[in-house]
Amino acid sequence: MNSAKLAALLSVFLVAGGVRAGDAGTASPSAAHVSYTADGRLEVPTTYRDWPFLTSGLDMNYASGEGGEDHHMFDNVFVDPDSLRAFRKTGSWPEGTVFVKEGREGLTKGSINRSGQFQAEPVMSLELHIKDSARFEGGWGFFDFGGNAPAQKIPLAAGCYSCHQSHGAVETTFVQFYPTLIGVARSMHTLSTDTSAGLARREQK
Ligand code: HEC
Repeated sequence: MNSAKLAALLSVFLVAGGVRAGDAGTASPSAAHVSYTADGRLEVPTTYRDWPFLTSGLDMNYASGEGGEDHHMFDNVFVDPDSLRAFRKTGSWPEGTVFVKEGREGLTKGSINRSGQFQAEPVMSLELHIKDSARFEGGWGFFDFGGNAPAQKIPLAAGCYSCHQSHGAVETTFVQFYPTLIGVARSMHTLSTDTSAGLARREQK
C-alpha cells in the first residue's frame, strides 16, 4: 500500500473515532460512575449505596414555600469514591464528580423503637448533581428521578442551580453540611467567598 492510500485509510478511522467520541451516549468523565442513554438521559443509579456517605440531614427545609410537612424526612448524601479521594487532596471536585441525595421518610413506630426516628425502607426521592463540563453547559447538571425511567437534565433556569450557586460552600456543593469535608476545604482555601454559609464571611476581618 502506498503512503497516500495509508493516509486516506487512517483519516477514515480517525473521523469514525471522532464521531463515536462526540456521541451523547458515550464517554465523558461522569460516565465512569453513572450511565447515560444514547440521547443523553441519565439512567437510575444502582450502586450509589456502596459509595462514601457524607451526611444525613433530618427535616432540613431550605426551599421557600415548603414546610409544614406532616411527616419527617431524612436525606442521605453520597459521592463517588474517586472524586472523594481527589477532594481530600485538593479541596475541589474533579470533572466526573457524581453526588446522590436520596430522601427517606423518618419513622418512630417500628420494632423496639420508642422515641427518635429511623429511616423507612422506600426511597421517596432521588436527586443527582454531576460535574461534567463535556456534557453540561455551566459545568454541573442536576437530575431528579420520579421512578425508574431515565431522567432528562433539569434545565438551567431551575431553582436547583441558583440556590446551589449562591449558597454552596465549595463550587455549587453544600460542603458546609458535610462534616468530614468542611475542614478539608478550609485548609485548602477552596471555600467560596460569596457563600451565605457565613463560613467565609466570618473569615473576612
Ligand atoms: C433553596 C436551596 C436549594 C435548592 C433550590 C435545591 N437545593 Fe439541593 N441542596 C441544598 C442543601 C442545603 C443541600 C445540603 C443537604 C444536606 O446537607 O443534607 C443540598 C444538597 C443537594 C445534593 C447533594 C450534593 C450537593 O450538591 O451538595 C443534591 C444531589 C441536590 N441538592 C440536588 C438538588 C436538586 C436536583 C435540586 C432541584 C430540583 C435542588 N437540589 C435544589 C439546597 C438546595
